[in-house]
Amino acid sequence: MDGLRSAEQKTGAAKIGPLDVAGIAEECAWHATLPGLSTADAKYRSPMSSRPRRKWHPAGAGYAQGECHGHADGKKGLIIGIANEHSLAYGCARHFRAAGAELAITYLNTKSEPYVRPLAAALQSDIFMPCDVTVPGQLEAVYERVTKDWGRLDFVQHSIAYARKEDLQGRITDCSVEGFTLAMQVSVQSFLRMAKLSER
Ligand SMILES: NC(=O)c1ccc[n+]([C@@H]2O[C@H](COP(=O)([O-])OP(=O)(O)OC[C@H]3O[C@@H](n4cnc5c(N)ncnc54)[C@H](O)[C@@H]3O)[C@@H](O)[C@H]2O)c1
Repeated sequence: MDGLRSAEQKTGAAKIGPLDVAGIAEECAWHATLPGLSTADAKYRSPMSSRPRRKWHPAGAGYAQGECHGHADGKKGLIIGIANEHSLAYGCARHFRAAGAELAITYLNTKSEPYVRPLAAALQSDIFMPCDVTVPGQLEAVYERVTKDWGRLDFVQHSIAYARKEDLQGRITDCSVEGFTLAMQVSVQSFLRMAKLSER
């Protein structure tokens, strides 16, 4: 990773390129399910998980049993949506990291920071920043840091959602305009912002 980083610094900051999430996400989804694989052979276990592992087939034609470490070596990913160790984003991040990816991790606010910090440390993330997508400039600041430190971004994970308590208690048709707008802003529109920022 250091070699890659210094090579990028020598050649100047590269533009952030097209996202390359499909293969890694497929790997991650596969780790979440692991259909029918024997758990007997420790050789196929991730060091970060008690689950067995199989090799991701580069052609996408399926998986072959074997070692899959390193197929994301040097990939740089931004993960937004870790609140605690039960967050879906954390499970995915562990597998991205085990596959060799370098990760930028965000946390929502000062209240959530103490819960997320040790998880970011376990993921060996150098970039650890606040990001509340309703606070103007915070998402942009994360991308600025990524561009400054990495010069590129290979994949992102958007795993956030929010709705006010009062808007979760009635029927969808009872939802206030403000509550609906806020839920859409956090859960949906922020994904479009990330997609746009990732194009730069
Ligand atoms: N858990 C499930 O069964 C399930 C099923 C389908 C879809 N999902 C979706 O998966 C995603 C992750 O959910 P989870 O189950 O891991 O829950 P989670 O509570 O661990 O994750 C939700 C994340 O959203 C973040 N968030 C909320 N408001 C935010 C804001 N304004 N700015 C930035 N981040 C904000 C929280 O900090 C948290 O990290 C959500 O989009 C959820 O709708 C979850």
